[in-house]
Amino acid sequence: MNNFNFYSPTEFVFGKGRENDAGKYVKKYGGKKVLIHFGGQSAQKSGLLDRVKASLENEGIPYKELGGVKPNPRDSLVYKGIELCRNEDIDFILAVGGGSVIDSAKAIAMGAVYDGDFWDFYSGKQPEKALPVATVLTIAAAGSEGSGDSVITKEDGMLKRGAGSDVLRPRFSIMDPELTQTLPAYQTACGATDIMAHVFERYFTNTTEVEITDRLCEAVLLTMVKETPRVIADPNNYQARANIMWAGTVAHTNIVGVGREQDWNSHGIEHELSALYDCAHGAGLAVIMPAWMEFVYKHNVMRFCQMATRVFGCQMDFENPESTALAGIKAFRSFLHSIGMPINFDELGAKREDIPALVEKFGLGDGRTGGFVHLSSEDVAKIYNIAADAQL
Ligand code: NZQ
Ligand code: ZN
Repeated sequence: MNNFNFYSPTEFVFGKGRENDAGKYVKKYGGKKVLIHFGGQSAQKSGLLDRVKASLENEGIPYKELGGVKPNPRDSLVYKGIELCRNEDIDFILAVGGGSVIDSAKAIAMGAVYDGDFWDFYSGKQPEKALPVATVLTIAAAGSEGSGDSVITKEDGMLKRGAGSDVLRPRFSIMDPELTQTLPAYQTACGATDIMAHVFERYFTNTTEVEITDRLCEAVLLTMVKETPRVIADPNNYQARANIMWAGTVAHTNIVGVGREQDWNSHGIEHELSALYDCAHGAGLAVIMPAWMEFVYKHNVMRFCQMATRVFGCQMDFENPESTALAGIKAFRSFLHSIGMPINFDELGAKREDIPALVEKFGLGDGRTGGFVHLSSEDVAKIYNIAADAQL
């Protein structure tokens, strides 16, 4: 196992009705004037926003509001938020929504206390500080409620890029599984796919002797395979929603990934799809991740056999391990299809003729990237091609 630090300072406040305590937790973490940041309609329609505002008012904490975050959040609203924070002396940002809202809040938090352009942090610069961010999570998916990451799209050129730093980890995250019951089945499934992808990015590693994280990864994956069909069949199944919500956090705080090399190419390759077509990140991953697996499995056939047998219950064929590895990948793609995810370019709304442009934007040039298998631009093009044609 490799050396590691694990720092996860977020206080997770989990369960029914916990959003009514948002004001108390803002007070606990020192917020004096809050920016409530939210998305399109869901938090308003459900009455969640009113409940959060009431909880701040109960604590006598003044706030300003900035809504309108779109899925695949854009830089233009981030600039607006930064200006608002500066003009109004905001000292605490409360994100009410999903990964997009939380990521936009994190970007504003960095930009508000930085003299330069916040985009510097999405171009490789490390932030030294940020305003404190907290979340009221409404979708189990990106894991941003526990992560130090943020992904923003720059409208000029539609570049989707990430920033990462422990200063972005939320002070607290309120997680009420009941809030996720209003999600359309498609969004629920996109979230489930993203959660599984966050585990697979860590599971496929060249580091050996990582039994504890292997087994933690498999626990999250098995939970998702069991619970996702239950919530698709019954959106109001609180217990299944609760298990999925916590799985989403566990998948991405990095507790399942410490001490091991990680890959992350599927995410990079997907981000070009959600940047170009504005598709949901999880839907893009459903198309890319099995294609990536088919391209790289020969690098460590036995690791793919481990996934196939332990997660998808495939029979191990010791005479022909490759067939077991491929059966596992097939089972993963069939699972994604069964929960309503697209499995190829057509179903996603992507176009084969865009592949050269996608590869170009991925921006590897002559370099290579990835922790499990180092891919070249040519390899990335091959993965897009496998994804374009994929069938069950
Ligand atoms: O805008 P509203 O009306 O709220 O609708 C949202 C949005 O349309 C809706 N929604 C959210 N909660 C709901 C709900 N609808 C009904 N009931 C609810 N309770 O769902 C839609 C998608 O929301 P979004 O926030 O975009 O979803 P998600 O959490 O999947 O976030 C996706 C973004 O996170 C990034 C992705 O790239 C993408 O931009 N990621 C962030 C990561 C991180 N910060 O650590 C890691 C991930 O790998 C990912 O890249
Ligand atoms: Zn993701």
